Amino acid sequence: MSLQNSSDDAAFKDKVRDQWDRAAAGWDRHGPQIRNWLRLPTDAMLEMAMVREGQTVLDVAAGAGDQTLDIAGRVGAQGQVVATDLSESILHYARDNALRAGYFNVRVHSADAENLGLNGATFHTAVCRLGLMFLPQPLAGISEIHRVLKPGGRFCAMVFAGPDLNPCLRILTSTAMRHAGLAPRDPFQPGGLLSLGKPGTMDDLFQRAGFTAVATTRMDAPFQLPTTKHYLAFIRESAGPILQILAPLDETARAAAWADIEAQLDVYQTEAGWVGPNSVLLTAGER
Ligand SMILES: C[S@@+](CC[C@H](N)C(=O)[O-])C[C@H]1O[C@@H](n2cnc3c(N)ncnc32)[C@H](O)[C@@H]1O
Repeated sequence: MSLQNSSDDAAFKDKVRDQWDRAAAGWDRHGPQIRNWLRLPTDAMLEMAMVREGQTVLDVAAGAGDQTLDIAGRVGAQGQVVATDLSESILHYARDNALRAGYFNVRVHSADAENLGLNGATFHTAVCRLGLMFLPQPLAGISEIHRVLKPGGRFCAMVFAGPDLNPCLRILTSTAMRHAGLAPRDPFQPGGLLSLGKPGTMDDLFQRAGFTAVATTRMDAPFQLPTTKHYLAFIRESAGPILQILAPLDETARAAAWADIEAQLDVYQTEAGWVGPNSVLLTAGER
């Protein structure tokens, strides 16, 4: 499971890095909404990884560091978190947010998840929240995480479940692609938002990377906001992959794409607010 060859993979990663460099400020600004959206699955992820006081924890594709701060609180002053990400720009936010929250046990390290540039057998635990699906070779990334864990160390990853369970992401991607004149794409193609959501894929990858005691749990994580427009504001400022699909369009064509997306997402407006269905998979294993 990879793109065609290593130069395709490198070009793809350059594109992904650029997406997240551009979306970094938006992802950070929407931190409180992301926190509400992912609070329960994040707690479950940290439990499945068995993050405990005093540990040295690797946080892969850490973004602006929302889950990093949770880990820093759990491991305490005797522990340490190494927050890594492909985008150096987004990691600045992780570092600043940690310092602002008074966590001095967070170190940031900019690195591709498929090649972390860290010593082997270093970490007690590792997590990756909504990052693995962006890897052109997720098996390489999971194997790399396996390499840097101490024997007995645990890893838990959160990825989006499949397209049927994530209709908002499906609408966003397919509508953006149609307006951009791109052919529909297999949602499970490597590198896509929903690429690791097929039941069994994550377990298989973990096992092939050498993890034992592998288990996957699915959790619903609906996105709850006052209105469709609030969700669109979040997407328009922080959803790197969607913004990149629409980037080549002129202003009028882009506005038409957003209007089409908004009309479709409006079906999730209820009297109590906008509730967008969303579902994630949590997979854990032991080295
Ligand atoms: C959806 S954001 C998730 C950020 C954070 N974990 C969170 O949940 O708030 C995806 C992150 O994956 C990172 N990413 C994408 N490809 C990567 C790669 N090959 N190696 C490391 N990080 C990568 C992006 O830069 C971005 O910060």
